[in-house]
Amino acid sequence: MAQRLLRDGHEVAILDDFSRGRRDPDLAAIADSGKVRLIDADLRAAAADPAFPRDSSLVFHLAAIVGVQSVLERPYDTLFRNVTLTDAAIALSRRQDRLERLIFASTSEVYAGSVERGQVAIPTPESTALTLTELDKPRTSYLLSKICGESLCHYAGLPVTIMRPHNVYGPRMGMAHVIPQLLERAHRLREGERLGVHSIDHTRTFCFIDDAVEMMLRAATTPACAGETLNLGAQSPEVTIGRLAEIVLSTVGRRTAVEPLPAHPGSPVRRCPDMARTSWLTGHVAGVSLEEGVARTHDWYRRHFFT
Ligand SMILES: NC(=O)c1ccc[n+]([C@@H]2O[C@H](COP(=O)([O-])OP(=O)(O)OC[C@H]3O[C@@H](n4cnc5c(N)ncnc54)[C@H](O)[C@@H]3O)[C@@H](O)[C@H]2O)c1
Repeated sequence: MAQRLLRDGHEVAILDDFSRGRRDPDLAAIADSGKVRLIDADLRAAAADPAFPRDSSLVFHLAAIVGVQSVLERPYDTLFRNVTLTDAAIALSRRQDRLERLIFASTSEVYAGSVERGQVAIPTPESTALTLTELDKPRTSYLLSKICGESLCHYAGLPVTIMRPHNVYGPRMGMAHVIPQLLERAHRLREGERLGVHSIDHTRTFCFIDDAVEMMLRAATTPACAGETLNLGAQSPEVTIGRLAEIVLSTVGRRTAVEPLPAHPGSPVRRCPDMARTSWLTGHVAGVSLEEGVARTHDWYRRHFFT
């Protein structure tokens, strides 16, 4: 995102407490460009600091507790912290003297309750009525935190665009995602071993990070997107996790088969966003093929992670 904003001539401030973000050479290269302010702070503390700069026109609120494992282990923190972080992002945005847009990164998980009850169309439009999953299931904490966040954005009285990311992937995303995990396991396979894959017949559409950034940036700068809730992702191709694993094996150069493992509990059988509204408003359709995106992701992980 920062690289893309710099290319367009913007000055950029990145605020992160590095609880999950990485201080790696890619970030250092951006920080050294002279056009980036890197602020190592908790967003809640920044929002409470009256001396915090007031000169941002676009605010992208991406900070959250994410990742299935963190959410399952810390549901209370996930719900409370994510709602508090959105409140902090709104407070900071309110103090910006020339705010043009606040972008809130919600999630495709907001559809999970409706998916569970078979109440969604595939592809899934933003107008789908949202239903909660069981409140005592830890996994609910994440989607509920994002539904509350969406509501706070609606009531904030600011020019806001809510975006619901669906399976965005690419370099620098850690290891809590199916694509880097499959790439790592394929990379480390020994001769004769097969690649074990969960939920092999579940389907997803995957969106490469460059496409997601382009859509988010266009949504932030298109007047008609203010006040909108938009899916962020790719509508096609919808592929099985088994097919994704085959693409991973071929990318990594392993001539072996995929071995089906049990489905992950709570994993939706199908997930595919209806991207008509986002494409119409932003003029952008995800264009990086899954094969190319996986190859570019593998190239980065091979150089930085799988050594
Ligand atoms: N990647 C996807 O496919 C996807 C899907 C659905 C939703 N999202 C949403 O998009 C956003 C970005 O996702 P991501 O995959 O890049 O996640 P990420 O964990 O890589 O990024 C979140 C960042 O927030 C920072 N952070 C956490 N708490 C903070 C705090 N108190 N103060 C300051 N910074 C803090 C973390 O250090 C991290 O760098 C998240 O809000 C996530 O819920 C992403």
